[in-house]
Amino acid sequence: CGITARVGGDGSLEPLLSSLQNLEYRGYDSAGIAVQNGRGIEISKFEGEVSKLESELADRDHDGPIGIGHTRWSTHGPPTDANAHPHTGCQGRVAAVHNGIIENYTELREALQERGHEFTSDTDTEVIPHLVEERLADGLDPEAAFRDAIDQLEGSYAIAMIVDGEPTVYATRNGSPLVIGVGDDANYLASDVPAFLEFTDRVVYLEDDDVVALTDGDHRITDADGDPVSRPVDTVDWDPEDAEKGSYDHYMLKEIHEQPVALRQTLHGRIDGDDVALEEFPPGSFDDVDRVQFVACGTSYHAALYGEWLLSKDGVDATTYIASEYAASPAPVDEDTLVVGVTQSGETADTLEALESARERGARTLALTNVIGSTAARTCDDALFIRAGPEIGVAATKTFSSQVATLVLLAERLVRDITGSPTSDHADRLDALASLPEHVESITTDSRAADISQRCLGDNGHFFIGRGNAFPVALEGALKFKEITYGHAEGFAAGELKHGPLALVTPETPVIAIGTGHDEARLKSNVTESRTRGAPVIAIAPRTASDLADVAEEFLPVPATHPDLVAILANVQLQLIAYHAANAMERSIDKPRNLAKSVTVE
Ligand code: G6P
Repeated sequence: CGITARVGGDGSLEPLLSSLQNLEYRGYDSAGIAVQNGRGIEISKFEGEVSKLESELADRDHDGPIGIGHTRWSTHGPPTDANAHPHTGCQGRVAAVHNGIIENYTELREALQERGHEFTSDTDTEVIPHLVEERLADGLDPEAAFRDAIDQLEGSYAIAMIVDGEPTVYATRNGSPLVIGVGDDANYLASDVPAFLEFTDRVVYLEDDDVVALTDGDHRITDADGDPVSRPVDTVDWDPEDAEKGSYDHYMLKEIHEQPVALRQTLHGRIDGDDVALEEFPPGSFDDVDRVQFVACGTSYHAALYGEWLLSKDGVDATTYIASEYAASPAPVDEDTLVVGVTQSGETADTLEALESARERGARTLALTNVIGSTAARTCDDALFIRAGPEIGVAATKTFSSQVATLVLLAERLVRDITGSPTSDHADRLDALASLPEHVESITTDSRAADISQRCLGDNGHFFIGRGNAFPVALEGALKFKEITYGHAEGFAAGELKHGPLALVTPETPVIAIGTGHDEARLKSNVTESRTRGAPVIAIAPRTASDLADVAEEFLPVPATHPDLVAILANVQLQLIAYHAANAMERSIDKPRNLAKSVTVE
């Protein structure tokens, strides 16, 4: 989601709308602004893109010198007018916008409701203006009321707020970015520099727990105790497109690095001890299901294969189909068949067609997607959202990780409902799943993938091999590599190597072997088969897999975790190898030739 705010001059409306448009890459399913104009605080917010907000505001007298705005990518609560930001309290004295997650919002909301507050949205954000209004009613000044409210919040957030009658925007951050723009005629505040880059290039980056009082001509920053802190004013020399990518050269690299945050969103509130807590699917939701079919394309197909592996190992009849094939020659279904369309966009024509075919023949359908309001989400019987946030790079990265993490959650529910027992090893696996964001982070902050990728710049083939859950990741590693380097790459089940592909293995063909801890000894034999033919082998496996490290030429470790999840971590190394190889070859990484992010033709 994106936050923007402006103080100063006469008209905030135009610059706020423009800032929101600049932020649409952060989310675009709903947008809103609140302006203070002497008639109180006026809020306008709508489901849909910023252009809809703009046209709704065209004939309204809604301008004023102080305003805040927000563009949303729904993770909690559907994209509706009511759920769009800004939010206000019962008295309409405060308007607030927020990015991040308030983890204790249920307790806060219930306590506020007991004290007579009425809520109008499903969002966690709405507790903030209610808490502030309560303190204002107690006689606190706006800044003290704001501090008191944020002291009660747990989670990650960036918040901007205005109060009726106050010439100030109050803001704070904790784990979610926020930056001030120092202008000549006005001051700005936003979640990202591109929001206001067209108005000023002088910026002040805020740190966690900073509290800002932004006025026309001044910005006062204090720490959590109220003591003044000084932050430098930097000048940025980015063009707007670079600015959207932040410090990264490409969206793909940015999105690889966003995976820990995306995964935290994916998992938030969905693990409850040794069980899952899927709001949409309480226990018993799938009691009538007796088999599962996945339909998907591209990267999502590989995530679906991972899901099939998770279900099959615990006794659920599951099969994955390439959506375009399924649409043409569908597998038999009945009313006890659950057909899961795995599609980050929710708009892939082949997947929609396969789901339609399943629905027409009486199956129950479920969309596993990143886009609330997408065609798949709307037309399937059920939807489960992966909450990865918008992905711009054509090569899918963070959506794959979030899809697989969501499939681990869904598998737990399905296995329990269908077989009557939890998955084997469920407590350890869910525990490891909760740690997945930090494990991914340890790779994105420290990986030798860039060095190792230099071994993959030749014109020959690149073979990716794995067993079990590493097989779909081998396919995905090869797909990523071919998509953005244009080099030849194939993924194989490691055991298949000797049934044909070994004929192609030479000293010029790097073999990338993915070890998870499942079937380690056999993978080691496959690595040895390749080494015997002279192939340089790069093994990616947990640090503890010393056997594999011994036989491979290069070893790229991932954190040791539950073997069922290791392949997700290995995939992050594969993303980095593909990225750095493509970068060294100066490929068009974010927009590879002939490919589109979402393919809406069959
Ligand atoms: C296109 C993209 C792929 C993507 C596939 C499925 O081919 O280039 O990266 O995996 O569509 O997209 P979906 O939105 O259904 O996940």
